[in-house]
Amino acid sequence: MNAQIPRYHGWSLFGLLSLLVLLMTALILAFNPDLIEATRTAIRATARTSFALFLAAFTASAFAVLVPSPLSKTLVRERRFIGLAFAFSHLVHAALIYTYGQLNPEFWPGRTTVGNIPGSIGYLFIILMTLTSFKTTTRLIGRKAWKALHVSGMWVLAAVFTYSNFKRIPLSAWYVLPFGIMFSAIVVRVIGKLAQKAKRVATDRKLTQ
Ligand code: HEM
Repeated sequence: MNAQIPRYHGWSLFGLLSLLVLLMTALILAFNPDLIEATRTAIRATARTSFALFLAAFTASAFAVLVPSPLSKTLVRERRFIGLAFAFSHLVHAALIYTYGQLNPEFWPGRTTVGNIPGSIGYLFIILMTLTSFKTTTRLIGRKAWKALHVSGMWVLAAVFTYSNFKRIPLSAWYVLPFGIMFSAIVVRVIGKLAQKAKRVATDRKLTQ
């Protein structure tokens, strides 16, 4: 018997990833008897699913250059949908933060305006990048502006993740792990870009010879 393994790509991949985020959130909320604590746990969990999806999109092209493989090529091809699934996961993060604020009236007064700045800037870029991730909107703003927005947005989000994990290290040494992963991903991306540039220069030289 030739069993068919379902392959997810494009919107079906986005749908699958988003469904998994929703399922995880529902399970956390359903199985924790304390709704306030459950919401807080779900906030942390969605930050982690967002982190995993962000890392895949952030390092895809670097891995495709440094260690070409069917997986790294697939990641590059599906980068847009992985990015949109990241945005969806962070939409759930935002919805849970809102719910938590409603359930726990001490939440917002306990935060400072300065403390909300990195996350708010992060959300601003997520919204702008999501809105410009469709053919019509990409065409509307033009290739150059699209590239400037998406390249700077990825670095802003990398900075927010680095900071969010770094500031929690005093609370638990475990945060060294995601902080280290984010730092390594930045190194991989920079080396990947340099390798891409070197490859381009070598090809140009060959063509002009
Ligand atoms: C103003 C906007 C935001 C607010 C109010 C906010 C709020 C929160 C809260 C309440 C937690 C749980 C903290 C805990 O229980 O220890 C959390 C966790 C987290 N958030 Fe957000 N967040 C915001 C935006 C963002 C953005 C834009 C990012 C990343 C791009 C992000 C990344 C994280 C990370 C990495 C964690 C830690 C997850 C973990 O414990 O592993 N947040 N956030």
